[in-house]
Amino acid sequence: MSEIRHDATPRDGSSRQRFERYRAELSKRSRIGGEDLRGKPRKPLHRSFGTLFRAYIAMLRPYRGALVITFAALAIATALALIPPAGVKIAIDSVFGDAPVAPALAAWLPSWLDPSNKSSLLAAIVVVTFATILVKVAIGLVGRSRATIVAKKLQVALRRRAFAKAIRLPLSRVHELKAGGVSALVREDAGAAGELLFGLLYNPFRAAIQLIGSLVILAFTDWRLLVGAIVLLPMVWFSHRTWIGRIRPIYRDLKKLRDEIDGHAAETFGGIRVVRGFAREPAEVSRFARGTNLQARTEILVWWWSRGVEIAWELFIPAATAALLWYGGSQVVAGRLTAGDLVMFLTYVTLLLGPLEVLANTATSLQTSLASLDRTLDLLGEEEEFGSDARTANPQGARYLEHDRVRGDIRFEHVTFRYAADGRKILDDVSFDAPAGTMVALVGHSGAGKTTLSNLVARFHDPSSGRITLDGADLRDVDLASYRRLLGIVEQDVFLFDGTIRDNIAYARPDARAEEIAHAARVARADVFIEKLDDGYDTRIGERGVKLSGGERQRLALARAVLADPRVLILDEATSNLDSESERFIQAALGEILRDRTSFVIAHRLSTIREADLILVLEDGRVVESGTHDELTGQSGRYATMVVLQTEARRDPAR
Ligand SMILES: Nc1ncnc2c1ncn2[C@@H]1O[C@H](COP(=O)(O)OP(=O)(O)OP(=O)(O)O)[C@@H](O)[C@H]1O
Ligand SMILES: [Mg+2]
Repeated sequence: MSEIRHDATPRDGSSRQRFERYRAELSKRSRIGGEDLRGKPRKPLHRSFGTLFRAYIAMLRPYRGALVITFAALAIATALALIPPAGVKIAIDSVFGDAPVAPALAAWLPSWLDPSNKSSLLAAIVVVTFATILVKVAIGLVGRSRATIVAKKLQVALRRRAFAKAIRLPLSRVHELKAGGVSALVREDAGAAGELLFGLLYNPFRAAIQLIGSLVILAFTDWRLLVGAIVLLPMVWFSHRTWIGRIRPIYRDLKKLRDEIDGHAAETFGGIRVVRGFAREPAEVSRFARGTNLQARTEILVWWWSRGVEIAWELFIPAATAALLWYGGSQVVAGRLTAGDLVMFLTYVTLLLGPLEVLANTATSLQTSLASLDRTLDLLGEEEEFGSDARTANPQGARYLEHDRVRGDIRFEHVTFRYAADGRKILDDVSFDAPAGTMVALVGHSGAGKTTLSNLVARFHDPSSGRITLDGADLRDVDLASYRRLLGIVEQDVFLFDGTIRDNIAYARPDARAEEIAHAARVARADVFIEKLDDGYDTRIGERGVKLSGGERQRLALARAVLADPRVLILDEATSNLDSESERFIQAALGEILRDRTSFVIAHRLSTIREADLILVLEDGRVVESGTHDELTGQSGRYATMVVLQTEARRDPAR
């Protein structure tokens, strides 16, 4: 284990014990060098700095115009900031002292200003200094606001792209990332990557201009002082790299720990009923508290390391200033330099160190943002659902389906399916024909593969071998989005969004008219309970529909599928939570729902599927019997046995 982790079990010990283990681990890491002292991991980061930088610049291309304005404004504002110290020098030398104003400068002065009149010279210096600062602030604001707007626009664009990509990832990838993981990626990482503009371009650019400007001026004043100032810089740089190298990995670990704690907390509240049901509240509180404790301990550790950098700067700047004061002061005493020169020089040194300090202090957050950009690029580079399929990778090759042109003949040809390449066969050589408008019923034991088969119809997965055709065309050759628009699905685990009942029914067709929604609700027998609610169709149902009963949720899901007016309808245990009476009602309506649609109905209650045109009995992924109800009950096979068992159970509920 090479990082701090949120405990999965109480056996991991108290947060203090785990923190001590983490520290021991850290010092071992720096000795054996999973990461060397300058923070360069032996195992390279996913992308090099250069690659990330180029990728970022490419993203900024649409904002070229605004960026030119930003950096021009920044350059002007930064250059203007270099003027006031020169004013101080003139004041000290020519107003307080007796040195004449330099001839080059005197030539610039307007004729009404007499450089030998000290009070008017002082007034002129003050006015010019103040005006310069005003202009600098105004121009700086223009640049900075432009930069902020660009950063926000980029952030929005990146988040949108990340969300659009994540929502199209293959289902197995989405399950791997977990809901919490996806939303963290989309919000935090894509957001932080958007903010890179300042850390990566704005601040370094300002520092560079300030550096060049001050160096040029310093060179004109006294080149020896300049050399002294420059020599000190690498020392700071080196100490800085050493500290940063220590800090970055801890930050990285902290980020991961926080994700784990948050993910766990979200899961706890998602499963709040289980937590309550088994009275696990104290245990969950303590797990959360231990995680947060460990996080706090580590944050304090990293705080100390960060203060190291800060203290180094706090000591370095006064020390450098003192050294220059000592050397420069002796030059002044010897008459080789004026007092004004020295003050100006010291001011420039401070000006020069300031932006470097900003760069140093933001170095950690820059690293975090770069890591975020890296993760965002990873996400954007992932393949979309079935994007790897050579045939659909070419959108022109995919057939676009139109609702009214599709008949709805579905055919399975020797379909075999495994969830993973090396997994067991969940479906094994399944072949059948479902002509347009017919109803196919799937029955079989739990785990036989019924839901999996219907998932293949919905093309949530592709067959491992064999093929599924719609009107004779392989599903893999069909435009996925246009195919899904033909589908209506009521899943075994009904999922509803927080919102009103109306929103949930109209999810597939937000523009549906009120009568259409009411009709769909009536068909699904949902109108009965909706009308009893205070707000009727405008009732909010809470996250995942917590405010509804299981049967009510099913009826809403059914209404949602009915309103979508699908060509192909999949009902996976769609009526299992209903009482017999409601089910019989829906049974009557089912005739209307299923008319003209090819439908796949999964039901444990066999009475639901009596009317099916084709009943497939699945066992361990194989079709062991197929036919109509009458045909199958005629044989003394598995279906017949199941029918007998269910009728007996109904006649004698005690069994
Ligand atoms: N995402 C998955 N990854 C790997 N295996 C899976 C996955 N989903 C289901 N399975 C396995 O596939 C088999 C068939 O599952 P499926 O959900 O199709 O059964 P089912 O016939 O619908 O059962 P039930 O009547 O209980 O709903 C099960 O053994 C299950 O363990
Ligand atoms: Mg199932």
